[in-house]
Amino acid sequence: MQPERALHRRNRGLLTAYEPARYGEAVGDNYDSLYPGVDSETEAAVERLAGLARGRKECSVLEFGIGTGRLALPFHKRGVRVAGLDGSERMVGQLRRRPFGEEIDVVIGDYRNTRVGDSSFSRVLLAFNGIFDPRGLGAQLDIFRNAARHLAPGGYFIVESWVMTDAQRSGSGSVMPRYVGEEHVELQLARFDVASNAIERTLVHLRPSGMEFVTVTDTYASPGELDVMAEVTGFERYARYSGWDGGEFTGSSANNISVYARRAD
Ligand SMILES: C[S@@+](CC[C@H](N)C(=O)[O-])C[C@H]1O[C@@H](n2cnc3c(N)ncnc32)[C@H](O)[C@@H]1O
Repeated sequence: MQPERALHRRNRGLLTAYEPARYGEAVGDNYDSLYPGVDSETEAAVERLAGLARGRKECSVLEFGIGTGRLALPFHKRGVRVAGLDGSERMVGQLRRRPFGEEIDVVIGDYRNTRVGDSSFSRVLLAFNGIFDPRGLGAQLDIFRNAARHLAPGGYFIVESWVMTDAQRSGSGSVMPRYVGEEHVELQLARFDVASNAIERTLVHLRPSGMEFVTVTDTYASPGELDVMAEVTGFERYARYSGWDGGEFTGSSANNISVYARRAD
């Protein structure tokens, strides 16, 4: 089923309140073809995350929102212990179909509060704007707390998020190309409510075969707001990059990779 139709079907009443499975159930069957541009970043992401591990005897990664394993599988292939937590059976089903996908331990649950075994990890990763939880600030703080629960002191919580432009922040509508390929263009049309931090985005995928619409409402957080969340949940900022290549974060960076170190209790 196309994402647009899947979302509409759910919006008609099958899923009323927010559920962690909503996103994955809507796009899970097509996810790996929705964001072809992202694949070029995957190797850099894995390199960066592995680099953070240097100097430590052991690196183990728990990925919140592991999805189809875009990041987790390359880690696993490097011999790093990887586990995942995801709300969507459909997304994890795609992971299971990929080579070595059966070898990764995945718990189905909400990364806001689900515990993965009793193990502690040296890294918890939340990529691709997962911190912009539609349920708001309370959920975002819970996610930081749940990451802390899975980390030993000194372990890192790594958060990837996009950074809003001034034009988007002003509350006026904005249109931004997210992916431009020969036979696939993705446009994002966003509406931002400065009072609640809610950002509603309609992602329009244009292909020779037709159009797809995916509408998502998230709770935005600026890099500075993420720092406050980290501070009050037992973390301190260790590093911030403008991308997985480790570039310097500046006032005009469009992406944020924040690395937070868990403080000792
Ligand atoms: C955009 S995909 C990213 C997948 C993968 N991390 C990547 O970078 O390709 C987001 C994933 O997070 C999962 N997800 C969203 N909200 C969740 C929640 N509250 N608890 C657990 N998983 C969630 C979705 O099911 C989906 O697999």
